[in-house]
Amino acid sequence: MSQVNTITTSPIDGQRPGTSGLRKKTQVFSQPGYLENFVQSIFDTIGGLKGSTLVLGGDGRYFNRQAVQTVISMAAANGAARVLVGKGGILSTPAASLVIRKHKTAGGIILSASHNPGGPDGDFGIKYNVPAGGPAPESVTEAIYARTREIDRYQILEECHCDIDREGTVEIANTRVEIIDSVADYIALMRSIFDFAAIRELLTSGFKLHFDAMHAVTGPYALALFEDELGAPQGSVFNAVPLPDFGGGHPDPNPVHAKELMQAMMSPGGPDFGAASDGDGDRNLIVGRGIYVAPSDSLAVLVANAHLAPAYAGGLSGVARSMPTSQAADCVAEKLGIPVFETPTGWKFFGNLLDEGLVTICGEESAGTGSDHVREKDGLWAVLLWLNILAERRESVIDIMSAHWQQFGRNYYSRHDYENIDSDAAAGLISAVRDQLGQLPGQSFAGLRVVTADDFCYDDPVDGSTSRNQGIRVIMEDGSRIVMRLSGTGTEGATLRVYLEIFEPDPIKQHGDVQQVLAPLVAAAEEIARISTITGRTEPDTRT
Ligand code: G1P
Ligand code: ZN
Repeated sequence: MSQVNTITTSPIDGQRPGTSGLRKKTQVFSQPGYLENFVQSIFDTIGGLKGSTLVLGGDGRYFNRQAVQTVISMAAANGAARVLVGKGGILSTPAASLVIRKHKTAGGIILSASHNPGGPDGDFGIKYNVPAGGPAPESVTEAIYARTREIDRYQILEECHCDIDREGTVEIANTRVEIIDSVADYIALMRSIFDFAAIRELLTSGFKLHFDAMHAVTGPYALALFEDELGAPQGSVFNAVPLPDFGGGHPDPNPVHAKELMQAMMSPGGPDFGAASDGDGDRNLIVGRGIYVAPSDSLAVLVANAHLAPAYAGGLSGVARSMPTSQAADCVAEKLGIPVFETPTGWKFFGNLLDEGLVTICGEESAGTGSDHVREKDGLWAVLLWLNILAERRESVIDIMSAHWQQFGRNYYSRHDYENIDSDAAAGLISAVRDQLGQLPGQSFAGLRVVTADDFCYDDPVDGSTSRNQGIRVIMEDGSRIVMRLSGTGTEGATLRVYLEIFEPDPIKQHGDVQQVLAPLVAAAEEIARISTITGRTEPDTRT
C-alpha cells in the first residue's frame, strides 16, 4: 500500500487566485512544490478532506494528466473518502460543476487556464469550486491565498499512479478513486432542459450547423450531442479532438481566434448557424450566416426567448450580468418585468443569486452565458438554447437580431484590450482616473458630458459582503458608458480593458459600423485616462 508522505515546504510568492483561480505559465506550475503547495492550501482552507468526496478534472491541456495524478495522490494522502475523476482527466468546467452538485461533494478542483493558450510555453491554471458547484467566493480564495503564505508541509502518497483512462473504481490507500464518464451526466442534463426532438428536427431538415471545438475540451461533448444525439450530419463538429496544445491555436472563441469558423459563416451560402467554445467549455461564440452576435446581445436574445425552451417555459426569476457587460439584457428584463442584478466581473459573483433563486440566467460580455442548471457559465448550453430558439422560430439569426433591436433598441458595444502593458503604468492609470472621479461630472470630453463617475462597488444582497474597486464607470448625459478595469486573469504584465457602450433606439440607425459609432466614446476615454501617453500604445491589441 502506498505510504503517506508529509513533505516539508515553504511558502511560494504570488499564489493569489485571480478572477477565476490561480493562473500562471505552465513552467511556473511545473516547479517542484508549486502545485502541491496550492492544492494543500485548498485542502487546509476547506477544513481538510477526511471522509469527503472531491471532484477532479480539467480541460486536457499540457500538464493536465500529471497534475491529475498529483491531486489524486494528495487527496488520498489527506484522507478523502472518494475522488471522482473525469476519464482521461477530462471534465469541462460546466460538467465539473454538475458532477460536484450531483454527488453532494466537498467541491472540486478544475485544472484549466480557460481560453489561454496551452503547452509547455503556454498557461496552466487551477481553481477550487465549492459544494454548490460554483467558483469559490472571494472570502474563500483569499483564505486559500493566506494559507499559501504560511504553508509548511503537504501530504502526498509515495509512488502513486492511477490508471485514469479506464472507467471504474480503484482503491488507493483508503480512498476510492472513481473514473467516471466525462460526458454522460452532462448530456442527460441538457436533455432535461431543451426540446431535443425539436432541435433534432431542425438539424435533420437541411439546416447547416458548424461547431468549432477548437481542439479543446468540448470536442467529445459536442460530437455526442450534436452528431450522435441530435442528428447533425457527420462533420458538423470541427476540430473535435482535444489536444494538449489545442493544435497550436488559441482556444478563445472570438472572431479573431475562431478564424475558420468566421470565414465559413461570412461566405455566401455558408452554414445557417455557427458556434465555438473555449479551452474548458464555459465560453461560447455565436455566429449566424453573415452576422456575428456580440455576447452581450446574445445574452439579451436568450433572456427574451428563453421561454421557448421547456426548462424556462415558466419564465425567468431574474437576470444577472457583470457590470461591464452591455445593458442590452436590462432592456429586455424591463419589458419582462423581472429584476436585473449588476455584479463585478467573474462568474463567482452569480453563485449566491442563483442559489437564492433570484436569477435564472446570467451572462458576461466575455462570451459567458449560463443558467441555474449549474454554477458555471456553459458554452454548449448557450449553443443549445440558441438552437432551441431557432427550432421554434424558424427564422435566420440575422432576422432575429434585427427584430430584437427594433423591439428593444440596440446597445452598440465593444471592448478594447491593451495587453501586456507595464503593470505599474497600468495601476497608475487606473489610480489617476480614480483620483479625479469626483471632478468628472459636469465636464465634457470629446463633446460628451459626464453625469456620473464611480469605481464600482458591489454589495452582495445574499451574504452581505462588499467588493470594492471593481471597475471605473463613467456615464454620459446620453446614457452612453465607458468602463475601465484591469484584467485579473492575465499571466504577463497587465491588461487594460476599456468597455464602450452607446444605446441606439432608432431602427434606422441600428445597422452602423460598431467601431465607427463608438469612436466619440473612444476619444472621450483617451481624454479622461490619457491611455496612449501612459501606456505608449495608440491602438488597442484587440477589439471585441
Ligand atoms: C475575464 C473576463 C471575465 C471572465 C473571466 C474568466 O476576466 O473578462 O468576464 O469571468 O475572464 O473567464 P478578466 O481577465 O477581465 O479579469
Ligand atoms: Zn473558459
